[in-house]
Amino acid sequence: MKQKAIYPGTFDPFTNGHLDVLERALNIFEEVVVVIAENSQKHALFTAEEREAMTREVTCDYPGASVEVLHNGLLVDYARQVGARAIVRGVRQVKDFEYEFQMSLLNRQLYPEVTTVFLMPNVKYTYVASSIIKEVGMLGGDVSKFVHPCVLEMMHQKREEQNR
Ligand code: PNS
Repeated sequence: MKQKAIYPGTFDPFTNGHLDVLERALNIFEEVVVVIAENSQKHALFTAEEREAMTREVTCDYPGASVEVLHNGLLVDYARQVGARAIVRGVRQVKDFEYEFQMSLLNRQLYPEVTTVFLMPNVKYTYVASSIIKEVGMLGGDVSKFVHPCVLEMMHQKREEQNR
């Protein structure tokens, strides 16, 4: 049976750290669906469609990867619907764990067959969080080392839109 995992997140924007985690997930699972979702605690800069477009472009050379948007509803319901038994989450620092622990146990409560798999990106991405990349990029700082050129271009366009 093909082992399928979902890799959910807000991906606002999709960073090289996310790509590193995706590559690691593809070493374990045959199919990984990157799920662009909403986090009720965050206000996204990019629309779900923009995040979908950038993530598709960044991941287009990875045969086992696909990208979908979860417009509403629970992540675990989506996992059940697509037959995924694993949820991949990237953890960069110990402080990420409290939230991740809570979310994974809650998801397991809601869908006992699902297992959350935590993957650590390369240590060089420890400080690469979408929130900080967004802040620096939107203030005109150089974030080209941390995101794909297409993401850089979309950030540039967003900045121009906001300054209009
Ligand atoms: O990248 P993030 O913001 O840490 O990702 C959080 C995300 C989007 C995975 C989480 O908020 C989520 O799963 N949202 C979908 C709705 C849902 O199922 N919420 C309950 C999570 S326990």
